[in-house]
Amino acid sequence: MENMIFDTHAHYDDEAFDEDRDELLSSFPDNNIGWVIDAASTVKSHEDILKLTEQYSFIYGTVGVHPDDVGELDEEAFAGLEKLCQLPKIAAVGEVGLDYHWNVEEKSKQIYWFERFIDLAKSKELPLIIHSRDASADTVDVLKRNNAGKTGAVMHCYSYSKETAKILLDEGFHFGIGGVATFKNARKLIETIEYIPMSSILLETDCPYLAPVPYRGKRNCSLYIPYVVEKISQLKNISEEEVIRITTENALRLFNKVR
Ligand code: NI
Repeated sequence: MENMIFDTHAHYDDEAFDEDRDELLSSFPDNNIGWVIDAASTVKSHEDILKLTEQYSFIYGTVGVHPDDVGELDEEAFAGLEKLCQLPKIAAVGEVGLDYHWNVEEKSKQIYWFERFIDLAKSKELPLIIHSRDASADTVDVLKRNNAGKTGAVMHCYSYSKETAKILLDEGFHFGIGGVATFKNARKLIETIEYIPMSSILLETDCPYLAPVPYRGKRNCSLYIPYVVEKISQLKNISEEEVIRITTENALRLFNKVR
């Protein structure tokens, strides 16, 4: 089991998989994909994700709302999500965070709900899956102020500098590495991967987005993770088997409801 791949961030509830979802997911055990965390994004996504976790033993879900969608939230919706945390297959709170790239929602509103979800993760003793884009200063500030490292956390699709990575490493954070690592223009991320220890690296797809080379621009899925593994093995000068073994151990340690 330990040498199966753990995809720590996917969106198989996305309509991009409507045509062949069951066929694709059923093929995972025979293709060395051992576990998948399907990350919630909208309030409605939870319903679809729960169905997937019931249908497939290797799929786990999360509770959370993406910063672009926090406009959907109110106290009643949040209370509903809070109840889901106790389900055996809800393994994390996420994806939650800050996105100042599109600024779909006001910054103050994003920060408010980010802090509410951090509190929720801490009170339920669940790890956090964090989305942060063009918001490094505020993200680090919120995470430190709320002592978020205490409950365990991963920076999904990490895109900031090595210097920011150092601060987050000191707080005990993990880093989700996916298809972007194989892109030609990924110099900053490559530097970060070389810098952070293997014990803080997790594998992820963020599918249907961010497919690795040679599938860049196409629909992504967990079956393409070996291209990311190959890249990390070159950068860290260890075998691909070692990359899989260590990242899976890291994921099973962080997401401790996953069996
Ligand atoms: Ni995502």
